[in-house]
Amino acid sequence: MKISFAEPAPVKSGTAVVAVAAGGKLMPAARDLDKAAGGALTKAIKASRFDGEIRQTLDVPAPAGVKLDRIVLLGLGKEKEIDDLAAESLGGTIVAKLNAMGAKGAAVNLDGKADPARVALGATLRAYRFDKYRTKESAKDKPSLSALTVMSESPAKARRAFGPLAKVADGVAFTRDLVSEPANVIFPATLAREAKKLEKLGVKVRVFDEKQLKKMGAGALLGVAQGSARPARMVVMQWSGGKKDAAPVAFVGKGVTFDTGGISLKPPGGMEDMKWDMGGSGVVIGLMKALAGRKAKVNAVGVVGLVENMPSGTAQRPGDIVKSMSGQTIEVLNTDAEGRLVLADALWYTQKEFKPRLMVDLATLTGAIIIALGHEHAGMMSNDDDLAEKLLAAGISTGEKLWRMPLADAYDKAIDCDIADMKNIGGRDAGSITAAQFLQRFVNEVPWAHLDIAGVTWSKKDAPTIPKGGTGFGVRLLDRFVADNYEGK
Ligand code: BES
Ligand code: MN
Ligand code: ZN
Repeated sequence: MKISFAEPAPVKSGTAVVAVAAGGKLMPAARDLDKAAGGALTKAIKASRFDGEIRQTLDVPAPAGVKLDRIVLLGLGKEKEIDDLAAESLGGTIVAKLNAMGAKGAAVNLDGKADPARVALGATLRAYRFDKYRTKESAKDKPSLSALTVMSESPAKARRAFGPLAKVADGVAFTRDLVSEPANVIFPATLAREAKKLEKLGVKVRVFDEKQLKKMGAGALLGVAQGSARPARMVVMQWSGGKKDAAPVAFVGKGVTFDTGGISLKPPGGMEDMKWDMGGSGVVIGLMKALAGRKAKVNAVGVVGLVENMPSGTAQRPGDIVKSMSGQTIEVLNTDAEGRLVLADALWYTQKEFKPRLMVDLATLTGAIIIALGHEHAGMMSNDDDLAEKLLAAGISTGEKLWRMPLADAYDKAIDCDIADMKNIGGRDAGSITAAQFLQRFVNEVPWAHLDIAGVTWSKKDAPTIPKGGTGFGVRLLDRFVADNYEGK
């Protein structure tokens, strides 16, 4: 979908989207059209339940007196300030409605009530669709909307503001693509190849294969991978947009391209969801794309550990003891608690190699976080209050909300082990926290936050700026976290 910006002007053809405030009050552009159409809009409102609530719409097809295919009334809600998130949600709502109505092109005039760049961002995010495998879809089932013009008193300013936002949306779309791909297409080698594509944007990308990982001592990560016919990878991405010697911010992602559970096999129902168990790595890759795309003034490192967790004759067994890159040994009591094993080596490597000023890891780590928080918040655990506050704030700004959970020695005890330095499960209680305690043993005092995104990586229902499917949750959050706190600093 092509987005453009233009000065407000009467719309002569196609579809016009105009605004109505709460109580059914027509805004100026709507009032003008109503006049031209002989009061058709006022009449349509009277004959409907539409009353201008935010994101409500009313379709008025081909009214007499104007040459338009249709006029779409969009509710703005109460006439208070429409903030960025609300503006995005309006943009997304417009796209969804216009596609449902079969509109091909449209011009949106919200009378300056909503930031046009944010409306455009919301529209772009909602227009995302993963449809490459639908080979028989008829034209009438495909999205109809191919062009959207957002009107603004200063289109040049809107265009400038939209530039970097569009790059972030590109990053989100990349993440959604990676998460949506099935596991026969995206596996460690091919996911590494996708990350390599960031080189075009000036990102330095290194891919470590199994031989190199073995030399590096990544025994925890390799133990997970050993049951699969598809060998492991670790990918390191570096974006150097900041001062030459400034320590980087680092992002680390769990990239289990399919999680069967291994020998501790998962039940079959819903196992297909485990194609998106590489969601954390998908976010890190999409985030690096966003940062490089908008040329962020920051040094950032992205590290992803890529494995497939399969049961087989070569798979690791419950009770196996592995040695992690840190030197610490782990008794693997449940081969389905594999994400923490992958992250143990990826986190250790990241802090040792880059001496980052902070690390944020993302992982679809535990089912327990879905029990605790559902699909509304991602869970956050952190060893640093300042870092946690900054992440919480970025979550509120972007609508990708976090909820902090505690870390404490009492939880850490749950993963102590009689036969090795630790075990990889802590029992049923506080499952998301004991998983985070495990990770903390590999961060070596670096300010660190863990985001458990198991509940927010995939959505079963549409939201204004997020079509159902892979959400890309985390890309906008961390892009904002970087922009607000670390650029040029
Ligand atoms: N990938 C899963 C967690 C998950 C569950 C993600 C549901 C998304 C949706 C993870 O590897 C896992 O299997 N965790 C286990 C840990 C347990 C064995 C301690 C879990 O949550 O059951
Ligand atoms: Mn698992
Ligand atoms: Zn997993």
